[in-house]
Parts: sequence; C-alpha cells; structure tokens
Amino acid sequence: MSEEKNIVWHKQSVGRTERETKNGHSGCVLWYTGLSGSGKSTLANEVEKELFRSGAQSYLLDGDNVRHGLNGDLGFSEEDRRENIRRIGEVAKLFADSGTIVGVAFISPYREDRERARKIVESSGLKFLEIYVKCPLAVCEQRDPKGLYKKARAGEIKNFTGLDAPYEEPQNCELVLDSSLRSPKELSLEVIGFLKRIHILL
Ligand code: ADX
Repeated sequence: MSEEKNIVWHKQSVGRTERETKNGHSGCVLWYTGLSGSGKSTLANEVEKELFRSGAQSYLLDGDNVRHGLNGDLGFSEEDRRENIRRIGEVAKLFADSGTIVGVAFISPYREDRERARKIVESSGLKFLEIYVKCPLAVCEQRDPKGLYKKARAGEIKNFTGLDAPYEEPQNCELVLDSSLRSPKELSLEVIGFLKRIHILL
C-alpha cells in the first residue's frame, strides 16, 4: 500500500531515547477495558492525577471524549467499534512513542481488537498493559451515571454493551481490578505499583 502511494518513512532527528531521558521514564499504554459504568474513566483519572503529581509525562484518551472529535464519525455497530479501537490503538502508539504514559479508557468489547491494539503498540517496542476494570453488569446498571442503561432497557438505544451487544472479558490481561469491591483510589495505587514493578516508574 505504502509503496503504491510512494510514501517513504522519514527518520526523525529527535528519537525515543532522547525523549525518555528528558522525561525520566519511558512511554507506555495503560489500556482500561470494561463495561460502560464500570469505572474505567474514574480509575484512569485517579491514575492520571497521581502520575501528574509525581511529575510524569502522561495523558488520558477517553472514549466518550475522543468520540466527540477524531472518532465523531463512528457509531456503535461492531464495524464502527472495531474502527474506533483500531484508530485509538494507533493514536496510543504515537503518544507512547512520544514518551508519554498514555491511558486509554474505552469499552473495547472485542478481544481481537484489543489484541490488535496490543500488537500495534508492542511491535513498536513499547509496553501495553491491559487493565480489566471488572464490575458486575447489575452494579454498572445500578450506577448508570449517564442514564444510558435506562434508555437501552427502554429500547431507545440499540447495541448497548452488556445488554444487546457483547463484551468479551480479557483472558490474559496484566491486571484485573474489581471496582465493585475497592475504591478508585485503592485501585489507582495498584496501577502505580504495577508501573513501578515493571520499572516504568522509579
Ligand atoms: S467502544 O465499545 O467503541 O469501545 P467507547 O468506549 O468508545 O465504546 O464509548 C463508550 C461510551 O459511549 C459509553 O461509556 C457510553 O457513554 C456511550 N454509549 C453510547 N451508546 C452506547 C452503546 N450502544 N454501547 C455502549 N456505550 C454507548
């Protein structure tokens, strides 16, 4: 494809090593997956606050926000969700390559799509940490922070994850954090602890 289009990779003068040295840590992807209302964004925000406080270079990509801009042309069909995750996998790779610890909080319901995102990131020599924010559907539905479960039950929203669209639980993720049992703060410390164990943070 690239050859047909006569596109050649342009090597840049400032490299990843220089950026990592400047930041004091390497970039990586924290990929939060789970049902709507499971607490992905809340947890990702807690982690982000802690990273910011400690002086790390970090950023958070949130499904609800990215769908206002870059992915504003996509809906919730299986095909659109796949494209949503493909794009954000590529964007996450760019952020991580820039030396950023980037959080990605998207439902990302399909295992295959998450695996593809992992490959995109890992094939660039960057770490991809899949964090399953686990929470029973009944609890998510009871929380219903945006009133979307109610609408979906009333038939006003179709293809709602967990109701009439699937969510495929991770099988080999790096962390499983149950948000129905522990507070966002406690869970965020687990994530930070993990980043220390794998030497992303000192
Ligand atoms: S994903 O499945 O493609 O990864 P994404 O994380 O970008 O989803 O967006 C999910 C958010 O969109 C939910 O948190 C919710 O606020 C909103 N939403 C609107 N319609 C749906 C739907 N049919 N299924 C799930 N979430 C929906």
